Amino acid sequence: MREMATAHTCVFGLGWGDEGKGKVVDLLSTRFDVVVRFNGGANAGHTVWVGEEKFALHLLPTGALHADVSAVIGPGVVVDPTKLVEEIDGLAARGIDVGDRLKISDRAHLVMPYHKLEDQLAEACASVPKKIGTTARGIGPCYADKALRTSAVRFSDVLHSQDFRERITTLTKDRIRTLQARFGEDIELDCVNAADAVMAACDRLKCRICDTTEFLHSAMDDGQSVLFEAANGTLLDINHGTYPYVTSSNTGPHGIGPGAGVPSHSAERLIGVTKAYTTRVGAGPFVSELHDEIGDQIRKQGNEFGTTTGRPRRCGWFDAVATRYTAKLTGATDVAMMHLDTLANFEQVGICVGYEYAGKTSSTFHAHSDILEQSKPVIEFVPGWQDCIRKIRRFEDLPSEARNYVSRVESLVGVPVTLIGVGPERSQTIVRGALEQFVQIPEATTT
Ligand code: GDP
Ligand code: IMO
Ligand code: MG
Repeated sequence: MREMATAHTCVFGLGWGDEGKGKVVDLLSTRFDVVVRFNGGANAGHTVWVGEEKFALHLLPTGALHADVSAVIGPGVVVDPTKLVEEIDGLAARGIDVGDRLKISDRAHLVMPYHKLEDQLAEACASVPKKIGTTARGIGPCYADKALRTSAVRFSDVLHSQDFRERITTLTKDRIRTLQARFGEDIELDCVNAADAVMAACDRLKCRICDTTEFLHSAMDDGQSVLFEAANGTLLDINHGTYPYVTSSNTGPHGIGPGAGVPSHSAERLIGVTKAYTTRVGAGPFVSELHDEIGDQIRKQGNEFGTTTGRPRRCGWFDAVATRYTAKLTGATDVAMMHLDTLANFEQVGICVGYEYAGKTSSTFHAHSDILEQSKPVIEFVPGWQDCIRKIRRFEDLPSEARNYVSRVESLVGVPVTLIGVGPERSQTIVRGALEQFVQIPEATTT
């Protein structure tokens, strides 16, 4: 147990994912006993830079990088077992032994090879306006099977189903027939190989499967501190996001209850992560998107290419309408604003403060994606700054234009900005206000 009692905390995205959650979780992890993933699956890509060394985590909680932190994959996560084994082995090869610190919920569902195939086929065949631009990691089909129930596979089946291999082979054969009927007779998947791969990975993971719900209840009763690491972003939430251009899970702190097995309100500190501008990967409305050289410059300066798929990210000015919506939705207590450094070198910086649709300006986030698609951004410009801010560690030392920018965003979103990213490396961070006493920013790591 840590020396000081630490409020259970959730780190989650306020946007369409890739806000920099991995970096924030990594910075906080040293203060927590347990880090829990509770939603999504290998669609996530959470990056941490330690000096010049890059780590990208997809299924393991980012806290797993810290030797004394327990890493939990909760019931709400959909787990591709072969990917998870690859990730564990990849970290081991780099000297990080996840070992028995990892606990996989026996209630979590398995992403099967046919889920990934279905995801790819459905995307390839979808007509353009309804292409979601998924990560092709089988997320949607796996959550669909979970809701259907009869065709789902859970980790408890790995431990307790006498005929597990037979069951997954039958499920694979059945699904191939369905996929052939839907997408064409030439669809193939080697059922024996697919079952072998799942069996081999499950054999490796068996000793990590347990009742993580019970584990978390005991840990919390014993006074251990828990950090909940959300995947994806609140604008991708299945209920509240830009439907249908969303993922298939509850992506904010409201997902803790269903996804981790403890009450969502266990997490008292709710840190919503955003970039100092807005990005999105995949299809769907993006009101403040820039289709010009400014968007290209943000992409270049921010190195905006997907961690999971390598796709170029769409870039635009900070969307205060969308972020205020997700901050309210989630009850964010803190905002972590990443990539402030990326906005250097612009004469003026834009903030989207309203949406214009059918001749009216509003600051509400519409439920229908078509309305959002047709909305035009109302942009307020504030003076930019030219200096590189990557070496700055105190808010007061930032150029006044950068400070004013943060303050303006703060007042529009209605939540204090208590952590500011000024570069990808762990040490390139400013903390202020409530987080100042709480987060220890490490010295720069030289490798
Ligand atoms: P996540 O999915 O929310 O964890 O975010 P990703 O890791 O997918 O994408 C965030 C990207 O921004 C990664 O490449 C990070 O290394 C990088 N990053 C995070 N914070 C900062 C920052 O403050 N400045 C810069 N320049 N890069 C950052
Ligand atoms: P992290 O945790 C960015 C997006 C996909 C697509 C939509 C649905 O790294 O922030 P899915 O494969 O989930 O069915 O795709 O959601 N998406 C993400 N975008 N970061 C993520 O995760 C994402 N997870 C899903 O690009 O538009
Ligand atoms: Mg990411």
